[in-house]
Amino acid sequence: MRDLRGKVAVVTGAASGIGLALARRLGREPMRVVLADVEAEALERAHRLLAGEGIEVASRVTDVSDAADVEALAAFTLERFGGVHVVCNNAGVSGGGLTWEVPLSVWHWVLDVNLFGVVHGVRAFLPRLLEQDEGHVVNTASVAGLLVAPGMSPYTASKHAVVGVSESLHQELALLGSAVRVSVLCPGFVRTRIAEARRNWLARYGPAPAVEPRPEDEAARRRVEEAIASGLDPEAVAEAVRSAILEERLWVLTHPEFGEAVIERARRAVEGHNPGHPSAPGPG
Ligand SMILES: NC(=O)c1ccc[n+]([C@@H]2O[C@H](COP(=O)([O-])OP(=O)(O)OC[C@H]3O[C@@H](n4cnc5c(N)ncnc54)[C@H](O)[C@@H]3O)[C@@H](O)[C@H]2O)c1
Repeated sequence: MRDLRGKVAVVTGAASGIGLALARRLGREPMRVVLADVEAEALERAHRLLAGEGIEVASRVTDVSDAADVEALAAFTLERFGGVHVVCNNAGVSGGGLTWEVPLSVWHWVLDVNLFGVVHGVRAFLPRLLEQDEGHVVNTASVAGLLVAPGMSPYTASKHAVVGVSESLHQELALLGSAVRVSVLCPGFVRTRIAEARRNWLARYGPAPAVEPRPEDEAARRRVEEAIASGLDPEAVAEAVRSAILEERLWVLTHPEFGEAVIERARRAVEGHNPGHPSAPGPG
């Protein structure tokens, strides 16, 4: 899309971090923005904050892991603002541990929110965008969709899947000759509340599994938390997304320092070499 002014955006995970920054940046365009999040109180605060900044917002508590709830979000958007143009499938959670030890409930939670949240968003909104032959879908993956770090299998699986889904979608839209575009956002560490993702645990997966990290896991966890705390400002990520929408670009890589590692991984794969020994904390 070459001009966003006066159009309508939907952002999931809009109550915090990258989602809140996306909603603010698109709102300043100005676009009218629907904020969606599973955390009702935080969503209400975000709504008041952005409305106070003069942005025209509507908000709806939405669990992106629930297909019917995301369909209801699409209906709500059309009812409130009469249209939709930019859809940011951004809500996400993190969870990890050793691959064979991660409780199945955590696997399901992370994949249902991070992967199926994107799938539900695409299914609910894309028919409308195709019909009007105008629109842009932004799927939040991570540099963890392009690189692998140990101890984060569910998160890594979900983000690799979001990259794959987004690139497939890009190719399908090109084959159709559609004017609708897609971007996949692959940031490294960003200063948000992602390290506290357990606050968003969903009751239908049963009781949240107790975390009893081993001392060595505890050190890795602290390193990741420090990397997030000193990570990129979410507003810079939102600015990069806005540019990608206007330039109709698929890839949004906000942390160029990971570029060499992505190339090196691909090189090792095609040459049949094993991955190098991991030394740094994994990407966010
Ligand atoms: N922070 C980073 O370093 C980083 C790096 C790469 C990718 N990401 C991705 O960015 C996205 C946004 O995360 P963030 O870093 O801003 O974290 P955050 O925790 O600050 O924000 C995530 C938001 O998603 C919401 N959410 C969680 N589960 C939900 C559900 N089932 N339905 C609807 N909303 C739900 C949360 O309530 C929260 O408001 C995620 O997809 C995350 O994986 C983050």
